[in-house]
Amino acid sequence: MNPVYEQMGETGLRELVAAFYRRVKEDDLLGPMYPESDWQGAEERLSDFLVYRFGGSQKYIEERGHPRLRMRHMPFRIGEAERDRWLQLMGEAMAERAIAEPAAGLLKDFFVQTADFMRNQEE
Ligand code: HEM
Repeated sequence: MNPVYEQMGETGLRELVAAFYRRVKEDDLLGPMYPESDWQGAEERLSDFLVYRFGGSQKYIEERGHPRLRMRHMPFRIGEAERDRWLQLMGEAMAERAIAEPAAGLLKDFFVQTADFMRNQEE
């Protein structure tokens, strides 16, 4: 089993995403990018994705198909500032949930790499 999933389980990943979205909602830069009327849906999509990505249920794929994350982020302006803010808020959420190693390091590496890959603005 993937060590992240083994350590955190589906519940732990969902709690992390809930802590992250509590921050995104209040954030001046990222908050306005998300659909005002569908915070619950956005939270569920990221949770389902992480559960799938780290070896749990395939619900994300069944409902959304191939992730194609870079393409799905094209409608949003993502430069260095947005990338850094996303990582900052996720870092705070990870600290709040007191995620231990090895999951903390594995998640952080994945988030840093993926967030940088989402950038779609020349700077
Ligand atoms: C770099 C900064 C990022 C910004 C500003 C950003 C912003 C957004 C926004 C505005 C949405 C649409 C919300 C919705 O689902 O309705 C979204 C969707 C999503 N994001 Fe990000 N995102 C970022 C990085 C990431 C990273 C690092 C990941 C993966 C760890 C990720 C995973 C996802 C997923 C899975 C969805 C839902 C895709 C779908 O099935 O439609 N995002 N993101």
